[in-house]
Amino acid sequence: MAHFLKETDFAPHQASEVFALAQSFKKGRGRHTPPSLKGQTWAMIFSKSSTRTRVSFDVGIHELGGHPIFLNKNDIQLGRGESVYDTANVLSRFVHGLIVRTFEHRELEELSELGSIPVINALTDFLHPCQTYTDAFSMTERWSDGTNHLESLKGKKMAYFGDTANNIANSWILGAAMFGMELVLAGPEGYEPGDDIKKVLAESGYAPTYSFTKDPEAAACDADVLYTDTWVSMGQEEESADRIEAMKPYSVTSDLMRLGKADALFMHDLPAYKGMEVQEDVLYGSQSIIFDQAENRLHTQKAIMAVLAQGVRA
Ligand code: CP
Ligand code: NVA
Repeated sequence: MAHFLKETDFAPHQASEVFALAQSFKKGRGRHTPPSLKGQTWAMIFSKSSTRTRVSFDVGIHELGGHPIFLNKNDIQLGRGESVYDTANVLSRFVHGLIVRTFEHRELEELSELGSIPVINALTDFLHPCQTYTDAFSMTERWSDGTNHLESLKGKKMAYFGDTANNIANSWILGAAMFGMELVLAGPEGYEPGDDIKKVLAESGYAPTYSFTKDPEAAACDADVLYTDTWVSMGQEEESADRIEAMKPYSVTSDLMRLGKADALFMHDLPAYKGMEVQEDVLYGSQSIIFDQAENRLHTQKAIMAVLAQGVRA
């Protein structure tokens, strides 16, 4: 049974298929979408808040001819202490696929090991692969001629600022290696990429393409993309004051943007905290593609589900 728990769960030819399908779903939206999930019900179990992921999966399942069921942890027995494992075991007797947003990445892996239905990672503390694939697709919309998605990413430089040890940074460590991009992570001491992501990358068979620096200006130099994410991820609220203090020098400003290539993109997975990890003029400036990224969650995740559904039982 195929799952999508991390970037490297798909082979390059599947990633290429995802980008081509996302492109065609986007172009044909409202006219023709092959009903890849016809007759299927997919459940979304969310233990954390979400706007983009929740809505894009709900709409996407519907547009693929399937039926989505959204299950907030606190509305089901999971919120009263029933384990995610038992919950998923029960749900897999009812539904054709699971989309899970949770804290512990191991929990997600355990769910997938049930083996009977595909599981998609809708964000864990460790990784957010639906975001990475969407981000990469959003770049290909600028750089590809529509037939060479993967090739168009090769050799491009992404500079990522702020929390260089969170789920988005980890996901981009895998994504950059897989897509042949150079990733320069700029963040404060104590937030360097952890051993856990280095281990997953080593096991994936891709050579590392990232480096870490404490110097944001060096990172921004000649970058094709300047990317940032919140300094305080869901579940880290108690560390807010320390994180904000440590990451202040890594806010993406227009001065930093000017160090990148003239046509460099500004990207953020959202939600954004203006005046913290990014200044308002950059967030809404002419180089920003944040709302394309958000929209593309829908097209890319439909493509991910369509690829996974090829192996789903009727
Ligand atoms: N970027 C992202 O995953 O947003 P949500 O938390 O709103 O789903
Ligand atoms: N790093 C952020 C991403 C939100 C989409 C978090 O985990 O809260």
